[in-house]
Amino acid sequence: MAAAAAAVGVVALLLLLPLAASAYGDGLGRAAVGVNWGTMTSHPILPCEVVRMLAANGVARVKMFDADPWTAAPLAHTGIQVMLAVPNDQLARLAGDPRRAYRWAEQNVSAYLEAGVDVRYVAVGNEPFLKSYNGSLINVTFPALKNMQRALDKLGLGDHVKAVVPLNADVYNSPENKPVPSAGSFRKDINALMVDIVNFLNMNNAPFVVNIYPFLSLYQNPNFPLNFSFFDGGSKPVYDKGVVYTNVFDANFDTLVWSLRKAGVPDMKIIVGEVGWPTDGDKHANVRYAQKFYDGFLKKMVRNIGTPLRPGWMEVYLFALIDENQKSVLPGRFERHWGLLTYDGKPKFSMDLSGDGLDNLVGVEVEYLPAQWCVFNKDAKDKFKDLPAAVNYACSNADCTPLGYGSSCNNLSHDGNISYAFNIYFQTMDQDVRACSFEGLAKITTINASQGGCLFPVQILSASERVVPLRFLPTSFLILLMVVSILT
Ligand SMILES: *[C@@H]1O[C@H](CO)[C@@H](O)[C@H](O)[C@H]1NC(C)=O
Ligand SMILES: *[C@@H]1O[C@H](CO)[C@@H](O)[C@H](O)[C@H]1NC(C)=O
Ligand SMILES: *[C@@H]1O[C@H](CO)[C@@H](O)[C@H](O)[C@H]1NC(C)=O
Ligand SMILES: *[C@@H]1O[C@H](CO)[C@@H](O)[C@H](O)[C@H]1NC(C)=O
Ligand SMILES: *[C@@H]1O[C@H](CO)[C@@H](O)[C@H](O)[C@H]1NC(C)=O
Ligand SMILES: *[C@@H]1O[C@H](CO)[C@@H](O)[C@H](O)[C@H]1NC(C)=O
Ligand SMILES: *[C@@H]1O[C@H](CO)[C@@H](O)[C@H](O)[C@H]1NC(C)=O
Repeated sequence: MAAAAAAVGVVALLLLLPLAASAYGDGLGRAAVGVNWGTMTSHPILPCEVVRMLAANGVARVKMFDADPWTAAPLAHTGIQVMLAVPNDQLARLAGDPRRAYRWAEQNVSAYLEAGVDVRYVAVGNEPFLKSYNGSLINVTFPALKNMQRALDKLGLGDHVKAVVPLNADVYNSPENKPVPSAGSFRKDINALMVDIVNFLNMNNAPFVVNIYPFLSLYQNPNFPLNFSFFDGGSKPVYDKGVVYTNVFDANFDTLVWSLRKAGVPDMKIIVGEVGWPTDGDKHANVRYAQKFYDGFLKKMVRNIGTPLRPGWMEVYLFALIDENQKSVLPGRFERHWGLLTYDGKPKFSMDLSGDGLDNLVGVEVEYLPAQWCVFNKDAKDKFKDLPAAVNYACSNADCTPLGYGSSCNNLSHDGNISYAFNIYFQTMDQDVRACSFEGLAKITTINASQGGCLFPVQILSASERVVPLRFLPTSFLILLMVVSILT
């Protein structure tokens, strides 16, 4: 039973190498800057390496999109505060029966706390009121939130752990003819529901969690002033009741502040659950703009400026830690390129994440597959089969978003395009030789196929062999493991 042996090995490793809890930034008066850690990727980096990197960067808070022990367990005894999540597809289940919420909290909050994972929030759903969900989660979100908070209370954890609902900033807006924060309120179609939710959260001393994306303001509106997305001024300010707004982040945040006032909870705490800038997949998604955005944003956090209506300390979570090549591209091709780190754990640019005044973002060491690429075999042109179908197949099973308009590989030649598609498929399939055939249209080469600013990646050794420390597995599973290992 190699898997069982490996599991034991990892437990031993975790016990032997407790991470040093470092002196984190936010005790020192600067804003609390956490990160979002998503795992929708074909080749995840080993979670204990990711956690080591978080500690090395002085990251004291992490927000996740589920409660998977594979990623949550390594956070034990690190001093890092954690937001776990109930995914959207579980909301109806938890809304329907308080006992299910109770069992969720027992297994995914109580047990983790006992094991040393410092859980502080449970996110009930993720942006459940997005217009693209067609209202399908409108009726289940609030009941699921109530069931979860009551479960936490019943377990005696309600003071330490808060149930929250991370919402997209599209749950509030200002009228088009009066685009200022003071005209803002919750969206008409969900206003009554939002008022109920914020009053419930506020009663429980839980924060409003909002995702704010200046990049999307720019992406969705071709007339949006570019400089208003950043923090250096250089754009026409917005004046609102004696307040001057020089960037869209502040204006958006304060639109929420006004919406909360109108909903009767003027002092409710606000957390920014997601904020960031992607680096590929759109003409405005590049390293230069991302660095400009983060430079301005992190300086603002270090100086503890806040927004005009909420000056001072705030809690924010950058989006996101690592690129995720399996995210849906429904919102746009940029969706797979939000990482501070590339797919292989390298910082995309220097930044001061720890707030120590040094631009020294630390990456993760990974192991790569062999340095080889799969490219279009030009000699096979005569044997032309169905080239578009082959490219289509490759790109529907791997990430071709860098080929799109305005993206890093948009300037490739016709043949270059084909090679990109073949290579990315080959790498995603762990360089299986059968994945570089395409009926003779493709061949393997050891010559780096990258061209100019377009990287032809070599994939990393996948850590997706899911090895979970034994103490996080249910007893029944442990007994099964023992029986199997005796029998084999
Ligand atoms: C705990 O969370 C995991 C991972 O998100 C989920 O699969 C599981 O169903 C949850 N436990 C319960 C009892 O609902
Ligand atoms: C919402 O409706 C649109 C158009 O009717 C449909 O294409 C889409 O799949 C729906 N989305 C969901 C999440 O049901
Ligand atoms: C939500 O509930 C309302 C009122 O009961 C109902 O009209 C609506 O169809 C429900 N929506 C969904 C998506 O179930
Ligand atoms: C944007 O700001 C920069 C300085 O940060 C300035 O050089 C540039 O002219 C501004 N662009 C516009 C369109 O205002
Ligand atoms: C291939 O070349 C690109 C661009 O020059 C470089 O970034 C990358 O590291 C190279 N890959 C390998 C495996 O050497
Ligand atoms: C692609 O080529 C065009 C025209 O030569 C140039 O303006 C653009 O900057 C190039 N884009 C990239 C990503 O290299
Ligand atoms: C390469 O592929 C991209 C994306 O499919 C397309 O926009 C571009 O026109 C292609 N370039 C050539 C030279 O075929």
